Amino acid sequence: MKIAILPGDGIGTEIVEQAVRVLGVLDLRLETETALVGGAAYEAHGHPLPDSTLKLAKAADAILFGAVGDWKYDKLERALRPEQAILGLRKHLGLFANFRPALCYEQLTHASSLKPELVAGLDILIIRELTGDIYFGQPRGRRTAVDGHFPGAEEAFDTMRYSRPEIERIAHVAFQAARKRSKKVTSVDKANVLETFQFWKDVVTEVHAQYPDVELEHMYVDNAAMQLVRAPKKFDVVVTGNMFGDILSDEAAMLTGSIGMLPSASLDKAGKGLYEPSHGSAPDIAGKGVANPLATILSAAMMLRFSLNRPAAADRIEHAVKAVLAAGLRTPDIWSEGTTKVGTREMGDAVVAAVAGKTIATKTKS
Ligand code: IPM
Ligand code: MG
Repeated sequence: MKIAILPGDGIGTEIVEQAVRVLGVLDLRLETETALVGGAAYEAHGHPLPDSTLKLAKAADAILFGAVGDWKYDKLERALRPEQAILGLRKHLGLFANFRPALCYEQLTHASSLKPELVAGLDILIIRELTGDIYFGQPRGRRTAVDGHFPGAEEAFDTMRYSRPEIERIAHVAFQAARKRSKKVTSVDKANVLETFQFWKDVVTEVHAQYPDVELEHMYVDNAAMQLVRAPKKFDVVVTGNMFGDILSDEAAMLTGSIGMLPSASLDKAGKGLYEPSHGSAPDIAGKGVANPLATILSAAMMLRFSLNRPAAADRIEHAVKAVLAAGLRTPDIWSEGTTKVGTREMGDAVVAAVAGKTIATKTKS
C-alpha cells in the first residue's frame, strides 16, 4: 500500500509528521512518499500543484494531506495560490464526496463554546459535495457590467451550478452513510432563493425514493446554521453543496471544542481518498510547535478505514486519541483549567505511546 504524504504549508508539516509517526508504529508495511504542495511547492517549482505531485497522488492508494496557504501568497494570481493545490487535487482525482464527522469527545465537552449539555455526546456527519457548485462553476471572472444596478461599472462574478448526476451521486453517498448510522439525513439547501438548490432539493427527494428506510428532512442553509448552534444533536447526517458545506463544517467544528479535532475524508467513486484535517495552515502559529495534531492523526485513522481496509488499525488510533484525552493531555486550542498543556510533538508522542499500548505519562499540570 502506497501513501502519498503531502504536508503543505504552515502547521501542515508539523501535524503530518505526527500522523506519520503514529502510522509508523502500526506495523502495516505502508510505503510512503512525500511531496511538496501549496506554497512550499510554489517556492520550489513555481506551481502549487506540480505535475510530479499530482502524478504521485494519482498513483498512490491514498493521500495524507496537511494544509496549504499563507497570507504572503494572497497577492499572487489565483492560479498560483496555494489553495489551488487542494482544489486541483479534488478536481483531478474526482474526490467529490467529503466526509467531515463532528464528534464531541467526552473529555472535551467543556472546550466547546456551547453549553456542555448541548454538545455532550454529539456525533454528526457532514457530507459535503466537493467538486461542483460555485467553487468550480464556469464562467467566472471580472468584467464591465452591461446590466444590473451599475451598468458600466467593474464587476466580478462566479457561477453556481449542479448537474443531476452530481447531485444524485452525493445523495446516494449520504443515504448509504445514514444506513450505517441512525438513518436520518438532513439535506441543506437554499431552495427558497436559488434555482441551483431547488434542483438540488428535487433531485435529493427523487433519490430518497430508493431509501425508504432512511428519513429525509430538508432545511434552508440559514436555518441549518442556526439549528447547529441551537440543538446540534438533532442532526445526524447532513448533506449539502460545496460552499454551504465549507461554511457549516467550520461551524460544526467548534461544537466539538476545536477545529483542531476535526478529520476529513474526500473520496472518489471507487473509494480512493485524500485525508486531511478540516482546518487550515494556521500561519499565525506555524513553527511554534503548538498546533493540535489530532485532526490529522484522526484523518490517518479514516484513511485506514475507508481506503486501506484496515479497520482494526483505525480503531487502535481512535482509542489512542481517546486515551490521551482521558489522560488529560491538551494542546492549547483545547486546554482548560486542570488539564496538562502539551505541544504538537508531545501530543504525537502520547498517541504513539498509546497506540503501542504503553501507559501515557502526564507531566506536571500547567
Ligand atoms: C476547506 C478549506 C478549503 C475550501 C480552502 C483551503 C480552499 O476551507 O477544505 O474547507 O474552501 O474547501
Ligand atoms: Mg473550509
